[in-house]
Amino acid sequence: MKKTAYLLLALCMVVVSSCTKTVPASVPAHIEDGMIVLETPAREDGQTSALGMTCDPIDTVRVAFVGIGGRGTGAVRRYTQIDGVKIVALCDVKQERIDICNDILAKNGLPAAEGYVGDEAYKELCKRDDIDLVYIATDWLDHVNVAVCAMENGHHAAIEVPAAMTIEDCWRMVNTSEKTRRHCMMLENCCYDFFELSTLNMAQQGLFGNVYHVEGAYIHFLAEDWDHSETWRLDYNMAHRGDNYPTHGLGPICQVMNIHRGDKMDYLVAMDTPSYNGRVSAKKWRDKDECADGDHTISLIQTEQKKLIEVQHNVYAYRPYSRMHQLTGTAGFANKYPIQQISVKEINGHNAVSQEVMDSLLVAYRPDFVKEIEEKAKQVGGHGGMDYIMDYRLVYCLRNGLPLDEDVYDAAEWSSVQELSRISLENNSMPVKFPDFTRGDWNKVDGFHYAFK
Ligand SMILES: NC(=O)c1ccc[n+]([C@@H]2O[C@H](COP(=O)([O-])OP(=O)(O)OC[C@H]3O[C@@H](n4cnc5c(N)ncnc54)[C@H](O)[C@@H]3O)[C@@H](O)[C@H]2O)c1
Repeated sequence: MKKTAYLLLALCMVVVSSCTKTVPASVPAHIEDGMIVLETPAREDGQTSALGMTCDPIDTVRVAFVGIGGRGTGAVRRYTQIDGVKIVALCDVKQERIDICNDILAKNGLPAAEGYVGDEAYKELCKRDDIDLVYIATDWLDHVNVAVCAMENGHHAAIEVPAAMTIEDCWRMVNTSEKTRRHCMMLENCCYDFFELSTLNMAQQGLFGNVYHVEGAYIHFLAEDWDHSETWRLDYNMAHRGDNYPTHGLGPICQVMNIHRGDKMDYLVAMDTPSYNGRVSAKKWRDKDECADGDHTISLIQTEQKKLIEVQHNVYAYRPYSRMHQLTGTAGFANKYPIQQISVKEINGHNAVSQEVMDSLLVAYRPDFVKEIEEKAKQVGGHGGMDYIMDYRLVYCLRNGLPLDEDVYDAAEWSSVQELSRISLENNSMPVKFPDFTRGDWNKVDGFHYAFK
């Protein structure tokens, strides 16, 4: 009898210890029901949801740019072409970047913007009271520090991708936006590419039936860049395992799946390969023998509605660029990379429609607001026009006091895959539960929609 009692006690202790085992993560985490669960911080007093948040309309959007390397300079150039915008300040760690951007302003007949130089010069910039939007295109590690500083000083923040690299930083973005009632948007431009915009509309009009499996990716051979512009990126990849750039693939497919607008990402399982070409890059450019990032990383995500999302990352392979963007539904299919294909049960059964039919479908389902600005978007450019459409929509929503297309919860959810995939990989691909950044409100909005005045 006594022996049985001891055995039972020992068994209970094993169960309790396996339930309470902690897992290294940027926020407290433990294992529960065979899954790694990250704790959700409580809202502070007075802090409320930012779902569908609107702010006062802004007649002329006064913009400050922080981080004006390759990407930030492109944004400055595009903003010279958008109505209702004034560029008031420029910030970088290098004076030459400010001079280059002020030259762009001068060539467009615009006054010079005030320059701020240095690693922490953004703190001075954010103290200005004549800024509405801080547009952040630094390397990854400074994104959230700058965004939080901007919001705490009363400005809206727009952050390049991925907005945040840890779950802790995802919560900092969400909490600061909820507390300050300032927008915090991640600049996921791939949501505004033409194929993605049309196929999102097709999915919303029911052309593909119930879309239950989607795939996205960032597959882009970057090694040639690593001896000049993108040094910080190779350094990051060498030190961090996981999908380090998930949002280009994930953003457009999450909009199709109505994530936090009727469905939510529930849990993730990740797998990766060893580092093959990545290691060669590490050796060649940094004389290091290790690269933590596997060459190919796959994250498989189960949604609350039991649908599937797959996202891949590979910046080392000798293969053509791909974001996949594949949608499978009960009545149709769309695929962007490596070849564009659409099939619709009503038109051609399971076979792909002809190129001619596909082209006419893509035009017919192009949203009206895109048709209105398409020509200008292609002329101003930025990845063929999608960057302009993104900037245009951000400025339009701010000027009209509308909720933004991509809210702070999108920024947190799409970015969170970086750390969640790392945690899964480091625990033999164990499932990791997604934090619910909306804190229970993921089912309150009925589907993804653009707002118009
Ligand atoms: N959406 C896209 O298609 C796309 C494409 C390329 C890059 N990006 C993103 O844009 C961001 C910048 O990438 P990039 O290619 O322009 O890199 P980059 O290295 O060319 O530019 C980064 C700039 O930020 C500056 N900077 C760094 N820390 C700073 C700080 N604390 N304060 C002020 N300036 C600072 C650097 O001096 C540099 O000029 C990254 O987040 C990247 O992922 C997005």
